[in-house]
Amino acid sequence: MKNKEEFATTSIHGGYASKDHHGSLSTPVYQTSTFTFETAEQGEARFQGEEAGFIYSRLGNPTVQALESRMAQLEEGESGLAFGSGMAAVSAVLLYMTKMNDHIVSSKGVYGCTYGLMEFMKEKYNIVTEFVDLTDERSLEASIRANTSCIYIESPINPTMQLIDLEMVGHVAKRHGLPLIVDNTFSSPYFQQPLKHGATVVLHSATKYISGHGDVIGGIAVGDRELMGEIGRSTHKDLGGILSPHDASLLLRGLKTLPIRMERHADNARHIFNKLRNHSEVTSVFFPDDPTREDYEVYKRQMTGPSGVISFQLARTKEEVQSFMNELKLIKIAVSLGDAETLIQHPATMTHAVIPKVEREKMGITDQLVRLSIGLEHWEDVWDDLEQALKKVSEPIRK
Ligand SMILES: Cc1ncc(COP(=O)(O)O)c(C=O)c1O
Repeated sequence: MKNKEEFATTSIHGGYASKDHHGSLSTPVYQTSTFTFETAEQGEARFQGEEAGFIYSRLGNPTVQALESRMAQLEEGESGLAFGSGMAAVSAVLLYMTKMNDHIVSSKGVYGCTYGLMEFMKEKYNIVTEFVDLTDERSLEASIRANTSCIYIESPINPTMQLIDLEMVGHVAKRHGLPLIVDNTFSSPYFQQPLKHGATVVLHSATKYISGHGDVIGGIAVGDRELMGEIGRSTHKDLGGILSPHDASLLLRGLKTLPIRMERHADNARHIFNKLRNHSEVTSVFFPDDPTREDYEVYKRQMTGPSGVISFQLARTKEEVQSFMNELKLIKIAVSLGDAETLIQHPATMTHAVIPKVEREKMGITDQLVRLSIGLEHWEDVWDDLEQALKKVSEPIRK
């Protein structure tokens, strides 16, 4: 994709031609589990891969295929696979990439359930994940072993919003012949396209910005045709965590407004970030579009916008942080992100609660940290709500 104009058009038209669907403007929902064959021989030819065509919706469905194709175009990859959740995408890709006794190098900080999956893989198959400080090339080099099978990262990392230099990690991965998997959920392809920076597979919890409306759970992975074909024929098809045609149609609809929504999320978030960092109750704010950060140069190089997530800390006890959250009126307490509504959550007791406290704190997830997903409301209304709740928290101290 050359520019934002082209991205906007692809987000609406990519992967779908109405002339192939009776002129239907919107992608029809092929709500069917199976597809009929004209003859037994045709069924055999489809199963043999000698004739193109659909067989059974777990193996492929026209509505889902339109989404896979549009997402592949938006990520500038060759081929996409849709999943029933972001975690179905993460698990299908990681299980495909590893075998017993392997080693995974991961960013120091991943989504709680991804961490949970890695723990499960360690217990069941002795696949050990090492969480490495990937801001330093030497520590990445030093962590690679003979049995390392892949590098798995999030950037920005959920919820600390730290960035990883994709180009640097991509070069190291290439030098060692290792696939690099990047969870791009927090940026969406609108603000970051990891395949261009050396990733082998990019994946998403499509539940978030891709949907944008908080009404779908879904996942996407994009990579080259051969690799996606192999994942499609193994952990996608046989583990079976596929996306329903109806949910694919909601995600296709969500994609049509992705560029507009991302611009608004980012604008709103910049306003809220500036307010938060000047508030006396707030001790630190984590947001990629911050020129004072060490990784700002990485931000400028690999992202074209910050998306809408901001994390911040209050110098308060866990209970006081929770009572601040309870004071919010417009902002909803909920996990997930990327929706039209502004959401707040407490990672230490919610999304990252499965990670042991010591490990969590190494990742920067303290009891004082809250994560905000800035929505599409008027930002001043969001700020007014935050400000009144922050004021209530400081009141007992003033008395
Ligand atoms: C960065 C990241 N990756 C993956 C997931 C998992 O996605 P899902 O909830 O759609 O399974 C999440 C969910 O919050 C996430 O934040």
